[in-house]
Amino acid sequence: MKVLIIGSGGREHALAWKAAKSPLVEKLYCAPGNAGIAEYAQCVNIGAMEFDKLAAFAREEGIDLTIVGMDDPLVGGVVDVFEAQGLRVFGPRKNAAILEGSKAFSKDLMKKYHIPTAAYENFTDPEKAMEYLKTAKFPIVLKADGLALGKGVLICQNLEDALEGVKEIMLDKKFGSAGNEMVIEEFMTGREVSVLSFVDGKTIKTMTSAQDHKRAGDGDTGLNTGGMGTFSPSPFYTKEVDEFCQKYIYQPTVDAMAAEGRPFKGIIFFGLMLTPEGPKVLEYNARFGDPEAQVVLPRMENDLIEVCQACVDGTLDQIDLKFADNAAVCVVLASDGYPVSYEKGYPISGLEKFKDREDCFVFHAGTKFDQEGRIVTNGGRVLGVTALGADLKEARANAYKAQELVQFGNKYYRHDIGKAIDEA
Ligand code: AMP
Ligand code: GLY
Repeated sequence: MKVLIIGSGGREHALAWKAAKSPLVEKLYCAPGNAGIAEYAQCVNIGAMEFDKLAAFAREEGIDLTIVGMDDPLVGGVVDVFEAQGLRVFGPRKNAAILEGSKAFSKDLMKKYHIPTAAYENFTDPEKAMEYLKTAKFPIVLKADGLALGKGVLICQNLEDALEGVKEIMLDKKFGSAGNEMVIEEFMTGREVSVLSFVDGKTIKTMTSAQDHKRAGDGDTGLNTGGMGTFSPSPFYTKEVDEFCQKYIYQPTVDAMAAEGRPFKGIIFFGLMLTPEGPKVLEYNARFGDPEAQVVLPRMENDLIEVCQACVDGTLDQIDLKFADNAAVCVVLASDGYPVSYEKGYPISGLEKFKDREDCFVFHAGTKFDQEGRIVTNGGRVLGVTALGADLKEARANAYKAQELVQFGNKYYRHDIGKAIDEA
């Protein structure tokens, strides 16, 4: 088979690495890809939002399956464009990707189908939102409705901050059109867990759990980022929690989407909070997490392509999804100054030390080849170093040891990825 992956980050590198292990794959392509992905796939210089060019490429090259890694093209309808041209593609259609694309939609869906989540109200009128806040309990959470690179969520401690937040989101349009509508929701407390799943429209099979570290600094300080590191599994995601979620969250979400005439095929990423009243949904994403994919895929025992094919064909019930009884930790190596401003273009050394290793991996997030053919930094998040271990502590020690193998100017990382496991 010829397989095309759409995207260019660490998640897509992990997908390409995993796809390349499949005996079903003869040739792998990635659009646009990055310097690390180039080791497994032929990178094609087409942007993830250039749907017509992507589909034309897939037709010309005879691509048998396209896997969409990123949220923007999914929410924008890339799957519909491919399907209209008779191309096989793994991912939700536009009418299902709305599960991630509109927080107002997903909140209404959960309410209608009694899926546990924080109490909320949706607003399209900033005046009404401000009026509502005057009688609200604090802290309170404001969310821009649309995609905002994971940054459209404000936790406000008092009325003054919240009114300013409404202004930023709805009037100043800090997150662009994502702020045309907003959700105001109850503040929840508890541990966060990410659970990714494969879905074929009717059947859902969940993967092993993971946890992300969103803040830039040690001890969860600083600004929110795309994710500074992950570990898998989460020791807080117990068998009881899983049983509850399977019954009240996972299958009900898939059934709700089907009942709404929006059958979901692809990945549903459940962002959960384990609150004192039980697990509740924080958010849905319609794709693998980044950097969750970098710890979940290395633990997956199945052939990725076989599972994706089963999702497209609606035969996921015949797949026995299996994960190794080990653990993985990913430490993101970023450019100092991320997520605000940072320098790029520093040469990266030591990457060759990961070649052919099966206990640790380096997934490229923001890298490129410079004019002399050297691999240089090209983004805020530069690399994700993942290591496996028999348990979380061993995986964490291995990941921090492995990250020493790579060096570049401006290298910055958190020192406490996976520290929470000490409390488990
Ligand atoms: P989201 O993009 O919806 O996952 O929100 C980003 C982050 O904001 C989450 O990972 C949580 O840490 C936090 N958050 C979102 N919603 C709530 C909530 N209702 N209560 C407390 N924290 C929240
Ligand atoms: N790491 C969080 C996300 O991919 O949305």
